[in-house]
Amino acid sequence: MSRKALIAANWKMYKTPAEAKAFVEAFLPLVAGHTRDEIALFPSVTSLATVVELAAGSNVSVGLQNMHFAEEGAYTGETSAAMLKAVGATHTLIGHSERRQYFNETDEVVNKKLHTALKHGIVPVVCIGEVLAEREAGKTADVLKTQITGALVGITAEAAAPIVIAYEPVWAIGTGKTATPEMAVEAHKIVRAEVAKILGADVAAAIRILYGGSVKPDNATALLGEEEIDGALVGGASLKADSFAAIAKY
Ligand code: PGA
Repeated sequence: MSRKALIAANWKMYKTPAEAKAFVEAFLPLVAGHTRDEIALFPSVTSLATVVELAAGSNVSVGLQNMHFAEEGAYTGETSAAMLKAVGATHTLIGHSERRQYFNETDEVVNKKLHTALKHGIVPVVCIGEVLAEREAGKTADVLKTQITGALVGITAEAAAPIVIAYEPVWAIGTGKTATPEMAVEAHKIVRAEVAKILGADVAAAIRILYGGSVKPDNATALLGEEEIDGALVGGASLKADSFAAIAKY
């Protein structure tokens, strides 16, 4: 089964709307006509509308870095699925390790957000990954299985098609340390096998599993050349148009 790669830029808490505009204007010509892979940008909330408008009609999709699970309500500082869609965004990250680490996002919250995203037709990129101590203790497989199982509670095979998973070993995020292609492939196989157990072989064969954690232009080809690796979630190296374009065109 051939899966179309998704190359995604997670800008985190960087870029004002003016900076986001400058990026998109520089970036779109660099990837014009690139249809081999899907490309998505995840700006901050304040730049979302600007990026959506500038990317309209292009081969670049736009999403939020986080979305609340509730339809609406007294959740100060949060953004709903309807708000995301009204602006014209189509994707959301869910459960990024920084959300888990600093904002108490648990597998249960991730699961609720996943249900909400699917209900609203938003493409969810569900992030999972072990911290260094877990890897060193030989617990990587257990951690990934727990996170996947927790995320997928109550999700049916019929509803699962839009789901994208991003395997991001926490020790590789923003550290310059990258998992080797072998390490990433091993983790992806564990994740795909777990998805097969929960949602069946067909869903597992079709689901895209991205790798994230210090993906750069000079390691993208080795990682993305692996059949098991269906794209990349890129932080630091996605902040510059030429560097992210180089990754997208690995
Ligand atoms: P990084 O971030 O590429 O800077 O390691 C990846 C991520 O957090 O998604």
